[in-house]
Amino acid sequence: MAGHHRPVMLAEVVESLAPRPAGLYLDGTLGAGGHAAEVLAASAPDGRLLGLDRDPRALELAGRRLKNFSGRIKLVQATFDNLERELTALGAGLADGVLLDLGLSSMQLDEEGRGFSFRRDEPLDMRMGAHGPGAAELVASSSEEELASLFKRLGEEPLARRVARAIVRERAKEPIATTGRLAEVVEGAMPMAERRKRRLHPATQVFQALRLAVNDELGMLERFLEQAPRLLRPGGRLAVLSYHSLEDRRVKKAIAAWANPCTCPPDLPVCACGRLPLFKPLGKLGRPGEAEVALNPRARSARLRAAVRTEAAA
Ligand SMILES: C[S@@+](CC[C@H](N)C(=O)[O-])C[C@H]1O[C@@H](n2cnc3c(N)ncnc32)[C@H](O)[C@@H]1O
Repeated sequence: MAGHHRPVMLAEVVESLAPRPAGLYLDGTLGAGGHAAEVLAASAPDGRLLGLDRDPRALELAGRRLKNFSGRIKLVQATFDNLERELTALGAGLADGVLLDLGLSSMQLDEEGRGFSFRRDEPLDMRMGAHGPGAAELVASSSEEELASLFKRLGEEPLARRVARAIVRERAKEPIATTGRLAEVVEGAMPMAERRKRRLHPATQVFQALRLAVNDELGMLERFLEQAPRLLRPGGRLAVLSYHSLEDRRVKKAIAAWANPCTCPPDLPVCACGRLPLFKPLGKLGRPGEAEVALNPRARSARLRAAVRTEAAA
């Protein structure tokens, strides 16, 4: 899919970042470099971009796609919770725009052997980068309670307990080492009526939960949001594309807290806490249009939130 990757909500992302010549842009989730290429084109002739991805294969791909901009880019293999460190290391001051396009790229989803999809039988890995334990280890080493809580919290799976029990029972006979075997065990744990009722494959939510846990995706996002006010200069713009409510809720809450930081009791006539807004939310760029979803089903669940950095000190 590498050559066919369509950047999600491209026009809306570029509009929200408003790239300009000489600007400095950070892309924390470079992927195939689709959004980055457009930001670089829109900030010609001298806008620069620092691009991060935790997946070395994504960096290779993006490097090839962005080769025409080679004097204006720096690509680093790192997780985006290190953006502040990487920006400081660059020594070029604060950024004019920061973009996150969360989750998996189509390349990762389609690439064989990475264990993200239950539609093929392959090793149960699910790591976006090359570090840390994969999903098979998590499934093998977590207790029934831990698995149930994981499936509930990160997969919002209503039958979490039942599924966890089935996994613990089956792994005692033989380790659950492949995506196909896990999907089979999850499906087998659900009553037929429940399986029929579901619009998506019965293993969808369990796979989502494991992927989020293996890659610490929500932890990464929270650590990023904590540093975001320190990445941007006044007037700089933040844009985050998320694909499920667990992520979007965190982004929405962070933007609301930055926009209304005052902690004074509502009956106080004037603010005494002195906390000033760090960001101003940017209008309703919201969701992809029908035409985009028809062309690119992956865009269906996308939600774009954007905000402009104020003058207030972080
Ligand atoms: C949806 S894709 C980005 C696609 C990109 N915007 C484009 O237009 O080609 C998400 C990318 O973010 C990377 N990624 C996910 N979480 C990350 C993290 N915490 N730190 C760095 N990269 C991450 C993934 O490896 C993947 O390549």
